Amino acid sequence: MDLFSSIDTEPARERIEELTRLIDKYNYEYYMNDRSLVSDFEFDALLRELMDLERQYPELASPNSPTKRVGGEVNKTFRQVEHRFPMLSLGNTYSIEEIEEFESRTRKLLGDTAFSYTCELKYDGVAIGLTYRNGELVQAVTRGNGAVGDDITSNARTIRTIPLRLTGKYPKDFEARGEVVFPFKEFEAFNRQREADGDEPFANPRNAASGSLKLQDSAECARRKLQFCMYFMMLPADAEPDERLTTHSGRLEAAKTMGFNVQPYIKECLNINEIKQFIDYWDRERWNLPFAIDGIVIKVNQVALWDRMGLTAKSPRWAIAYKFKAQQVSTPLESISFQVGRTGIITPVANMKPVWLGGTTVRRATLVNADYIEKLDIRDGDWLLVEKGGEIIPKIVGIDMDKRKPGAEPVKYITNCPECGARLVRAEGEAGHYCPNQDGCPPQIVGRLEHFVGRKAMNIDSLGSERLEMLYRKGLVRDIADFYSLRREQLIGLESTDDDGLRRTSIQEKGADNILAAIEKSKEVPFERVLFALGIRYVGEVGAKKLARYFKNIDALMAASEEELASVDDVGEKTAQFIYDYFRDERHRQLVERLRAAGLKMTIVEIRLSDALVGKTFVVSGVFSRFSRDEIKADIEQHGGKVSSSISGKTDYVLAGEKMGPEKLKKAEKLGVPIISEDDYLKMIAK
Ligand code: IVH
Repeated sequence: MDLFSSIDTEPARERIEELTRLIDKYNYEYYMNDRSLVSDFEFDALLRELMDLERQYPELASPNSPTKRVGGEVNKTFRQVEHRFPMLSLGNTYSIEEIEEFESRTRKLLGDTAFSYTCELKYDGVAIGLTYRNGELVQAVTRGNGAVGDDITSNARTIRTIPLRLTGKYPKDFEARGEVVFPFKEFEAFNRQREADGDEPFANPRNAASGSLKLQDSAECARRKLQFCMYFMMLPADAEPDERLTTHSGRLEAAKTMGFNVQPYIKECLNINEIKQFIDYWDRERWNLPFAIDGIVIKVNQVALWDRMGLTAKSPRWAIAYKFKAQQVSTPLESISFQVGRTGIITPVANMKPVWLGGTTVRRATLVNADYIEKLDIRDGDWLLVEKGGEIIPKIVGIDMDKRKPGAEPVKYITNCPECGARLVRAEGEAGHYCPNQDGCPPQIVGRLEHFVGRKAMNIDSLGSERLEMLYRKGLVRDIADFYSLRREQLIGLESTDDDGLRRTSIQEKGADNILAAIEKSKEVPFERVLFALGIRYVGEVGAKKLARYFKNIDALMAASEEELASVDDVGEKTAQFIYDYFRDERHRQLVERLRAAGLKMTIVEIRLSDALVGKTFVVSGVFSRFSRDEIKADIEQHGGKVSSSISGKTDYVLAGEKMGPEKLKKAEKLGVPIISEDDYLKMIAK
């Protein structure tokens, strides 16, 4: 029997191997050497063939198959694993003198022994360790606290520059360490997309890389175009001797032949002058690299000397990191402009004499709010100190006091909205000013229109910001409900030119039809997204979903008290107050009625599995074995129950998993609310 089945699968196994080899090779050439050996079409065909075979013969599918590059695995939580070799950090310094001390200390310590240093880039990303056994990637773990990290293997498999199988000659069992970076170009495109989708952009590539590795959905990680730069090979004490692996530079050279992405910017140095030259060079040139670095790492090259030199408390004595200082320039402030956002928030922006800083020309930078301007004490005619650190966005960090003119007056903050003239208000305890003229201030209105049509809201994609601006200026759309009374003949032939007279927008017949079709289609958008599209302050995508699931329809939501709103999972008091106030405004209630009359969804479409829990309110706490916390909450709702975040007299059950919070336990006992387990819950819904 066994014999037959193995004969049967033999051709499939061979083909799978062949496809894997080919695809791995094409991937490698494409991502490492920028070379396409086959057309996209051919490549996709091979990949599809492999996927089909793996579906047909799941027992032959390897966890390191190139089909895993596209992700698809979903991690609820990341398993914590202990590092086999602790991931040490490096001593680091901003001072060149301390590098000189490191160098002379090393020389003294090693006496007559011949040795050299390697200088290489200090990548500004997220450190991970990759374990390879018999040439196969078996585990990827983040640095964590150095002793224990998170198992992120399925996300790591999606990074094209992490080899899943090694080529050539490699140690049987070792760990490759390196940094996952988000290249500038990819990072910027990714952030732009986030902004277009109404998501908060990431502050810098490092944060984005770190967030990406912790994504639960590895397919999303695959889309982010991360890169792995290898910088270290960790061998166990009993590794087979290999002449190539006796120096650090030799190990990296060898790693290249195994298929790792090793940056070519590594230099063997014999003395402090060569080290300093390397540092100076990269301090100037770093902005021309495709990814961020924050310094230079200097290591003793001869591996045998590492043990002799030993460790300090938490870092090796044979290596040190030099960190670049943030680059700073000073440039005169020419004027301050004030931008008005969708919610009326005013952002002051400094317009400066253009200045070259870290690879780009800087003209403008945010001054955040009135408090920030006051704290810096900016005066008319001041020169501003602009800094660019690891972040890409330049920051104003101070005033160049040498250039201050005697008797200069503090700059004036505006009292009225630059767009509509309304008097600005500054709420108690808030650092920013805002324009209260919601319904008469053009950028606020257009901003709300933009939010409404956004991809994560109503997804009316044929309306970009220029067209929206035009519809508003022509008086055709003044609020979000107006979209639904637009007529074809109003749109055709619309034309506008922007302020400089440079760009022109016009709508033809086909364009008008597309717009109307997209508006019509938006009537299918589910209630939770309609709620998000309203643009209530602090109600984001997730909050809207939770509110929709809790209240089920707009009427219940509009009627809710502040207290009830705040009891919804993930809705804080401040948000609850904003929602409450929003619906006390008659204009907003009318807006809702007009949207309802236009046919928008004002009720959630539920997946109802049963009515077992109708009328019951649950508070969920702890960790569960069969569900994630979000899953169990969704499950309660699908059986007709409600989920609340805090225990009160209205709570019917506290559903407790492992590690339930002690506060919740106390409160439940005090109020006499029954505490049930996951098993009790399953019995409840089985009825
Ligand atoms: S070597 C035992 N080399 O900088 C030596 N580290 O504290 C281990 N880093 O967390 C580190 N680029 O993630 C080394 N070329 C490089 C590096 C590098 C970035 C990171 C590393 C570590 C931190 C040093």
